[in-house]
Amino acid sequence: QRVGAEPAKGFTQAQHPVPLLSLGNAFHEAEFMAWHRRTANLLEDDSFDMVCELKYDGIAVALTYEEGVLTRGATRGNGSVGEDVTTNLRTIRSIPLKVMGDVPRLFEVRGEVFFPISAFHHFNEKRIAQGLEPYAHPRNTAAGSVRQLDPRITAERPLDNFIYSLGYAEGPVPENHWETLEYLGGLGFKFNPNTRRVGQPKEAIDYYRTWLESFERLDYGCDGVVVKVDRFDLQRHLGDVGREPRWAVAYKFPATQSVTQLRDIRVNVGRTGSINPYAVLDPV
Ligand code: IVH
Repeated sequence: QRVGAEPAKGFTQAQHPVPLLSLGNAFHEAEFMAWHRRTANLLEDDSFDMVCELKYDGIAVALTYEEGVLTRGATRGNGSVGEDVTTNLRTIRSIPLKVMGDVPRLFEVRGEVFFPISAFHHFNEKRIAQGLEPYAHPRNTAAGSVRQLDPRITAERPLDNFIYSLGYAEGPVPENHWETLEYLGGLGFKFNPNTRRVGQPKEAIDYYRTWLESFERLDYGCDGVVVKVDRFDLQRHLGDVGREPRWAVAYKFPATQSVTQLRDIRVNVGRTGSINPYAVLDPV
């Protein structure tokens, strides 16, 4: 079970009308194929379309629009309750403050906010020139920037976002995920042009392999791909287990490995008198 950070003091709590779920993982082709087989068994059909997306390594946000106007932006928090960070998210240029056209009276769009990697390096260079400590990781810095109590600090950071789903909506919306992304793109939301709709599990595996080769050339953090059943009626039929939908899977890239230094081995004595050794490592 994945549980996010609890709301911090200083932000109002934001209750999510529909919880923000987590994703089950696959780490190998066999695990991805097992997900596809399970899904096909439950649907009693193996010819369902899937949408392949990149898995962005940022911070999840939920954006609520009323009468076409952005009225609330919230973090994921524990999935049910997040933090109201509207004033901070408003500073991100690629998040529309207003959308035009025939839109549901009330709807919520979900996506990931990230710090583009090139901008992150540039930002750190400036910090170093000012005699400040550079930040270690674009994702943590993006998360820290979204949760700044002073929105002026957020505004100085060139954050960006990709949307990946429609949450709660009042009114008619498309019947599948692919058309929903196109619809949201048409309204001015930023969705990733590397998204593909496929029919066969082999095509999803090819998508994974292509991006495993090239994700390091992207200007944003990416730690795998997400494969989703396209049709919403099939998604509803499949449902969720725990906090994970059965209709989607995160097919993760292998974690980056690096070598560190073992500084020391120390021991803790547990409550029952057990001796528990632990390693002291240099952070990498
Ligand atoms: S879909 C129920 N699509 O991954 C579906 N999530 O482990 C859940 N994420 O907190 C969200 N890229 O912030 C989805 N293309 C993508 C994603 C994505 C990154 C994050 C998301 C969520 C976490 C779930």
